[in-house]
Amino acid sequence: MRIAVVPGDGIGKEVVPATLPALTAVSEAFGLGLSYDVLDWGADRWLATGVGLPPGALDRLARDYGAVYLGALGDPRIPDMAHGREILLGLRRGLDLCVNHRPVVLEHGVVDLYRENTQGLYAGVGGSVARSGAVTVAIDECVYTRETVESFVRYCLARLHAAGRRRATLVHKSNAVPNTGRLWQDVFRRELRAFPGLAGSEEYADSFCYHLVRDPSRYEGVLAPNLFGDVISDIGAALAGGLGLAPSASICPDTGFALFEPVHGSAPDIAGTGTANPYGAAMSLVLLLEHAGHRAAAEVFRSCLVEAAAGPAATPDLGGSGTTRQFMAEVTALLERRLPAAPPAAAGPGTD
Ligand code: NAD
Ligand code: IPM
Ligand code: MN
Repeated sequence: MRIAVVPGDGIGKEVVPATLPALTAVSEAFGLGLSYDVLDWGADRWLATGVGLPPGALDRLARDYGAVYLGALGDPRIPDMAHGREILLGLRRGLDLCVNHRPVVLEHGVVDLYRENTQGLYAGVGGSVARSGAVTVAIDECVYTRETVESFVRYCLARLHAAGRRRATLVHKSNAVPNTGRLWQDVFRRELRAFPGLAGSEEYADSFCYHLVRDPSRYEGVLAPNLFGDVISDIGAALAGGLGLAPSASICPDTGFALFEPVHGSAPDIAGTGTANPYGAAMSLVLLLEHAGHRAAAEVFRSCLVEAAAGPAATPDLGGSGTTRQFMAEVTALLERRLPAAPPAAAGPGTD
């Protein structure tokens, strides 16, 4: 598999390069044949050329690559994030990556948060009216199609079922936002019928957040529309120990094409200090390995990350004194001890 690597901006340009040697080590030891190309999409290129997502990029990604690995976008020189919307939301929408899995790892176990990733308030439908330079009316429409909600809900429930989960919770706000709310409830109830082992529940987004913070063990699988899912994923990251820890996978249910990125942003407040935590980015690579069916490789990589994060090489957000690179050097050292010896090179012609 070829991976398109987009470090992006800020700490994305620090955590992504720091994690690639570990991925290469895992790929070589397990004979996975992973390779990657680094693409320079981000603020610098946007400011220099006006190009965010280059023309034809989506077709090239779908044709030449099996996955995207992305750091983060966001730069103080572009305060409206125009480049980030074009690149990040362009990739999510343009590649139909409607399922965004953001697992929240807690003491009691994992809460599998699934965020719809392409529509809702992120549909890009809206506009504004200005008078004398001041905006007087502003509209961002919340748009959902049955096709996307069905595809999302079906995929998430199937994944939860396959993972042996027993409970699935739909987060909605149908009391205040009735049209999309009703669509989600209807689809959720219908799709649940195919999974008798999964108990469904529906919670208003406000009270869901209240309960999540007070007792996250109430939840196993959570399905949320786009903006609710964005906010809930940062709450989940806080419960799990910090934004630097949280990984994500954005998947197209039809093609399986996927993009892997940490949940955090470009963190301009710590960019350049060399102390950003690469754990969430590296754990996104673990999700990539799992998605590609390389379970044993994923498990070894995961266990080394978990062990390093509990030791002195952990970054300051976790109470350690390690830098981004020191942390990943520790992970690579642990990997070297645990990885199988690289498989022998392929036999030459005639040796059969
Ligand atoms: P942020 O996630 O970048 O940072 C929030 C806080 O968490 C900061 O204090 C930061 O230092 C800390 N933090 C984040 N990641 C960390 C890590 N790996 N290690 C240690 N600490 C970490 O959110 P923000 O400050 O609101 O946004 C900064 C920029 O990033 C904005 O332009 C925003 O639009 C963008 N953003 C991009 C993405 C993305 O590309 N997926 C996600 C969120 C925000
Ligand atoms: C995320 C980010 C993005 C989002 C922003 C940067 C557009 O917050 O990936 O969580 O809202 O989806
Ligand atoms: Mn977010």
